[in-house]
Amino acid sequence: MTDKTSNAMWGGRFAAGPDAIMEAINASIGYDQRMARQDIEGSRAHAAMLAAQGIVTDSDAEAIREGLLTVLSEIEGGTFEFSTALEDIHMNVEARLKEVIGEPAGRLHTGRSRNDQVATDFKLWVRDQIDAAITGIDALIRALLTQAEDGADWVMPGFTHLQTAQPVTWGHHMMAYVEMFARDLSRFKDARARMNECPLGAAALAGTGFPIDRHMTAEALGFDRPAANSLDAVSDRDFALEFLAASSICAMHLSRMAEELVIWSSAQFRFVTLSDRFSTGSSIMPQKKNPDAAELIRAKIGRIFGAHTALLIVMKGLPLAYSKDMQEDKEQVFDAADNLMLALAAMEGMVKDMSANRPSLEAAAASGFSTATDLADWLVRELNMPFRDAHHVTGALVALAEGKGCDLPDLSLDEMQSVNTSITEDVFGVLGVHNSVASRTSYGGTAPSQVRSQIARWKEILA
Ligand code: ARG
Repeated sequence: MTDKTSNAMWGGRFAAGPDAIMEAINASIGYDQRMARQDIEGSRAHAAMLAAQGIVTDSDAEAIREGLLTVLSEIEGGTFEFSTALEDIHMNVEARLKEVIGEPAGRLHTGRSRNDQVATDFKLWVRDQIDAAITGIDALIRALLTQAEDGADWVMPGFTHLQTAQPVTWGHHMMAYVEMFARDLSRFKDARARMNECPLGAAALAGTGFPIDRHMTAEALGFDRPAANSLDAVSDRDFALEFLAASSICAMHLSRMAEELVIWSSAQFRFVTLSDRFSTGSSIMPQKKNPDAAELIRAKIGRIFGAHTALLIVMKGLPLAYSKDMQEDKEQVFDAADNLMLALAAMEGMVKDMSANRPSLEAAAASGFSTATDLADWLVRELNMPFRDAHHVTGALVALAEGKGCDLPDLSLDEMQSVNTSITEDVFGVLGVHNSVASRTSYGGTAPSQVRSQIARWKEILA
């Protein structure tokens, strides 16, 4: 047992202070100090409401609101001394407020509890992160749109199973990521709209007998309305889970793109050159230029998935309402948010700076019999062949070309006709990769005309 006096905030019924280990397991100040601004914002709104409702005097509320600004400037200026004995940011701020303004500080906690206070602070913090994610994704989408516009008609191989499938355009590939990140954007916006209800005033769990105005505090803090059930308000962490869920999906997209950049920047592919600003060298191999940013994005994503799983596990066994388990929500979300923002910024930087290697893309697009489907479609269209037969004939032509070690357009008409006598000279018109992509004009297809209209659509949406 340590010999400390009991806690000033709730020590009335305690004869002794906590054991050092108790203090260590209990304290969250080491990390929840990141919510200082939100805590003070929430307390200032609460104090203004208490005065407006005649629960505290105007002069006490004014002293509290001013004092809180002093405390905030101490924290932001780095002069504030955080105390582990005071557990968390809420009690640290309040204790310091007492030192700064004296007796009125003790009136701030009227009609609220740390349970609604922490839920409010954390929501405000997560809401800021949602806004940051939206900004980050928006910037990434714009960088992708620029890439797509530059290379709307550059051909490259499209893959399935990472085997050459059909030629596509660089613009089309970039726009696939625009679609993915735009869905992320809308997921974050949905989560923001759903979470924007204010827990403050739910008090410990049951509400309060003081004539508080929860609509006033909700409005002051930028919420759409107060949360409608006090038990739910203090025990809901859906907002953090939704943030992590949306972050996880976005992170998965970032990781897939990172993986492609790693492959594409290799000497074997040479599809893209990453800028020096987003690459590193090797201390032993002078020729190396490594895509570390892409690799680290790919790796960091695991933390975000982990945070989501961890918080689901923290929450899944908790009876209503608050349990101290919920204090374990913050570190996971902080870490996930930090890494998501970093990954978004790094990806935006890489995409902005990277240059697509057009000749390599085009050469790769033409290899691997990538226009075999165009050939089969030609047989269907021009010779009225059933598709299954056309597939078979094309397969025989591919085998012929493969045996000769050449590509489809390199076969002679005689060789073509040795497989099917009805094939004419016209077939060569569909074997080129540019004709192939130009022909894919179905809605959402890879034809440059389609890609350009999708770019225009997104630009309009984002404007
Ligand atoms: N530090 C606590 C948390 O993060 C604040 C709420 C404490 N409430 C309580 N009933 N002990 O959850």
